[in-house]
Amino acid sequence: MAPLLICFMQISFCPARSLVRSSMDANTNSGSSARAERKQQEKAKIIQREKQRQTVKTISRLLQKAEGERTQEDRALLQEHQDTVQELSRRQSRRSLLKRKQEEVFDDAENLKAKVKQLAEELQQAKHVVIYTGAGISTAASIPDYRGPNGVWTQLQKGRSVSASDLSRAEPTLTHMCIWMLHKVKMVQHVVSQNCDGLHLRSGLPRHALSELHGNMFIEVCDSCSPAREFIRLFDVTERTALHRHGTGRLCPHCRAELRDTIVHFGERGTLEQPLNWKGAAEAAQRADLILCLGSSLKVLKKYSCLWCMNRPANKRPKLYIVNLQWTPKDNLATLKIHGKCDAVMGLLMEELGLEIPVYNRSQDPIFSLAKPLSAQEQKSHTREEIAPPSALEDTSQDTQAQGEATAVQGGWFGRGYAKARRKKKTV
Ligand SMILES: *[C@@H]1O[C@H](CO)[C@@H](O)[C@H](O)[C@H]1NC(C)=O
Ligand SMILES: [Zn+2]
Repeated sequence: MAPLLICFMQISFCPARSLVRSSMDANTNSGSSARAERKQQEKAKIIQREKQRQTVKTISRLLQKAEGERTQEDRALLQEHQDTVQELSRRQSRRSLLKRKQEEVFDDAENLKAKVKQLAEELQQAKHVVIYTGAGISTAASIPDYRGPNGVWTQLQKGRSVSASDLSRAEPTLTHMCIWMLHKVKMVQHVVSQNCDGLHLRSGLPRHALSELHGNMFIEVCDSCSPAREFIRLFDVTERTALHRHGTGRLCPHCRAELRDTIVHFGERGTLEQPLNWKGAAEAAQRADLILCLGSSLKVLKKYSCLWCMNRPANKRPKLYIVNLQWTPKDNLATLKIHGKCDAVMGLLMEELGLEIPVYNRSQDPIFSLAKPLSAQEQKSHTREEIAPPSALEDTSQDTQAQGEATAVQGGWFGRGYAKARRKKKTV
């Protein structure tokens, strides 16, 4: 306390400061009339704004009246405030457009089948196919999507809190398994995903055919080692990480530097070679003659210009097929937009192609052989549930179920990144 006090006293008696004060005093008289004027102007502005608000209110009430019910006076008022009438109708159409963009649309069964048939034919003709995936392909694994009616982002926008059962219990969906199969039979060359849930990797898709642009929740890396060293784990490594804070608390066994997660949050730029694999994604897009987007709003992906070949004339770009229930910003560039759930569309597609739909088998999940076990001291370095190995599945499934439902997911890549997006949105 004492040093602070002394400091204060020095300032009070400082001659320079007294000087400033006296010159301000001299200005006070001439300044006061200017201030009064400013105050007057501000007051006038407030009154003007209030008047405008009243007008808008009145006009919008009049517009809600049926035309037949409007009085002579009402009509005169509307005539007098044409500008307001137009502004209100612009606002109305903006609102309904926004609403329409958020609605989920479903193609009817017949239409869906016809569209999938067209997609199947195009896939068979294509030489280089790239698939872009978003949260919509994982909803069937009970990972909530972002922008759907019950999505994380949508819920946060409405001011609701988000909780979900532990994400490490999710398994590759029918769509993940179909994509794995399409790659295996060489009908798909590369997969670019925004999802951090690691499910493409766990479906068996080889690393070289995969770009996880926003990271993988099961991977931590040492970027002090050169080349960077990667450690795949059986649990979500992100429980203590956040935007601009990526340290996981565990250490690199080779150089003792702190390991970091691989997640790319909103506003961050991902530079890790793996698992992001930007090189693979950009090369694939360059060579692609068909791009299939599955379950992504494309609101983030559209910003990655190298994925879309927009520098080429329209007829030299890859054909674009989009499977999504909601509007996307690429809809008007798409050869075909399919409004259906990913699993439904992929099921039909495999049927059209005469391919079997593989079933996820935990015994063949590559994560168990890829994962590096923790050292004895590190066993307690995390509290997240581990993916149960195939042998343990039967006997533990019951208690892990109960435990998982009790814990809401808050930390790590899930939740925090979105919270930021919401704040950003609000200040716009
Ligand atoms: C899963 O894979 C294992 C190992 O390859 C195999 O023994 C088992 O039969 C498979 N299970 C199913 C349901 O296909
Ligand atoms: Zn290291």
